[in-house]
Order: sequence, then C-alpha cells, then structure tokens
Amino acid sequence: MSEDKKRILTGIRPTGALHLGHYAGALENWLRLQDEYDCFFLIADYQVSDKADDIDSVREAVREIALDWLAVGLDPERSHFVIESLIPEHAELTLWLSWWLPLGMLQRNPTLKAEMAELGSNSVPVAFFTYPVMQMANILMPKAHLVPVGEDQLPHIEMTREVARRFNRLFGEVFPEPEGLVGRVPRLVGLDGNAKMGKSLDNAIQLKDDAETVTKKVKGMFTDPTRLRATDPGHLEGNPVFMYHDAFNPDTDEVQDLKDRYVVGKVGDVEVKQKLANALNAFLDPIRERRAHYEARPELVREALAAGTSHAKRIAEQTMAEVRSALRLNYLE
Ligand code: TRP
Repeated sequence: MSEDKKRILTGIRPTGALHLGHYAGALENWLRLQDEYDCFFLIADYQVSDKADDIDSVREAVREIALDWLAVGLDPERSHFVIESLIPEHAELTLWLSWWLPLGMLQRNPTLKAEMAELGSNSVPVAFFTYPVMQMANILMPKAHLVPVGEDQLPHIEMTREVARRFNRLFGEVFPEPEGLVGRVPRLVGLDGNAKMGKSLDNAIQLKDDAETVTKKVKGMFTDPTRLRATDPGHLEGNPVFMYHDAFNPDTDEVQDLKDRYVVGKVGDVEVKQKLANALNAFLDPIRERRAHYEARPELVREALAAGTSHAKRIAEQTMAEVRSALRLNYLE
C-alpha cells in the first residue's frame, strides 16, 4: 500500500523539455525510487517568474515535461504527477514558512545568490528571490522524507530542514526533516564543456532529440583542445566526450579500450564520437518510442496530471488543516 511507504517529493521548473543532464542527475534516481517510496513529482509552475513574459512557453513546457516523464518510465499508476499552481495551498504554506525563515539565511543561500547574479539583481522578480521558500512548501506539504535533486539544490533542502525544525519546536511535530539525495552524475557538463548542461545554453541533448540530431550534436562536441591530430596523446580528464561515455555507454570494455587508445594517440575523435552517438541513441530509442506512444494519446497525459494533482490536493488540504490548527487560526470558533 502506497500509504505505508515513506514519501518522496521532488520537482522541476517548467522551462522546457528535459535533457540528458536531467536524466543522469535526477530522473534515473526517481525511476529507481518509485518502488520503494510513495512519490510526488511536481511541475513547479509557480517558480518560473523569470518566464513571466512568456506564459506560452511555460504551458508548452508543462506538457513536454509530463511527456518526458512518461517516456522515461515514470509511472502515474504508482507515482503522482502534480501541477503546483493547481494546489494554491502551496502559496499559503509558503507565506507561513516565511515567518520562520530569517532574511539573512535566504540572502546567504549560495545557489540563489548565483542565480540572482545571473539574472541581474535589479530586474529579478521578488517571486524569484523567494522561490526557495515555495520549494520548502512543496517538500513539506506531503511531509516528504526524501528529496532527490541536483547537487545545486542541496542548500534549499538544508533551509527546509532548518525551518521545519523551528516550526516543530514551536508547534509540535508537524513536519519530518527531509533528506536530500543527489544522483549518480551530480552535474553533467554541457556538450561545449560548460560546467552545466542547459537548454538555454544551447549545449544540451534533449531526451526527445531524434537519432540524427544526437549524432550531429555529438560530432560537434568539445573534446581535448590540446589534441590537434589523432596521433597526439589525448587527455581524458575534463573531456566531455569521455564523461558522456562514462555516464551513458553501458559497454565498459569498449569505453576502456577507447580510453587506452586515446591517451596514447591511437584513436581519432571521429571513432570515439561515433561510438558515443551509437550508445546514446541505443539508450534513447526506447524513450523515444514511449514518447511517441503518449504523444499520440494526449488524453493519457492529461489523465496522469489530473489524477496526480487531485491526489496531492487532498493531501495538501489535510496538511494545511494541521498547520492552521497548530497556528491556532480558529479565531471565530
Ligand atoms: N528548484 C528546483 C530546480 O530548479 C525545482 C523544484 C521546485 C524542486 N520545487 C521543488 C526540487 C521541490 C525539489 C523539491 O531544480
């Protein structure tokens, strides 16, 4: 029974279709954890204030993400696909939690700081600054025990624990203190060697890319800049092509053989890349097939989102009843 299992909540911002970085850093873990935990997978559409001038793209991304989730094998029969804003309780809990979050703690949050600097501090919407508080509400709403996330999100989980502790100290044990869980590949580098793979950086392989696109992208990948000819000894460290081989090529003998020959200048980039493209396409093929299945059946995608959201809404109502009673908001009774 799913009711007896511990809960997971994790989320993603609807900014576009998902890529290999999402898979290695997050989705792979989510898939594995579906058996053991009662999972809530949230599309965080309250948390895209940086897309305020492009609501169409948010709507499109909600659909794309649901499709990607189904395509990789997340199972709406067992797990709950949730659209955040259809549960306005998130907004209320965000406000209450912000009572116990000191401004300085939010200002010092290293991930938020870096993101704000990237957006340019003066034009950052207030809602962007407070998104980690909304994220706390997401996590605490179903009383999640585990939050599988990218490594950059760990400071937010630390803050969630701190605020949950403060709340519990004042009002009794309402919330469990959640733990973060980072994926096998905490952060996949971009095709260009950039520390982060991102759609907006134009250095990503999307889960929905077709075979030809993947092959073309792999051909254009950054490798070892010091290596001019195939006979030059190459470097493996910091070389995105080999990082991807390690992350996605299940044929470890092939990968070892390529590495052995690469460092002594006995293999060309063309062969290394061709083998990577083959491995990635073999990995992506079943995902593409399932995606096509659901793309042709939009009512199944809609049903998955509707069922998950209404389940999560009922739980949110229960949690908020507890929170309101803990806060003694029963003024008129
Ligand atoms: N902020 C997260 C990210 O950018 C997405 C997210 C929203 C999330 N709500 C969450 C992650 C709750 C974990 C739990 O990746």
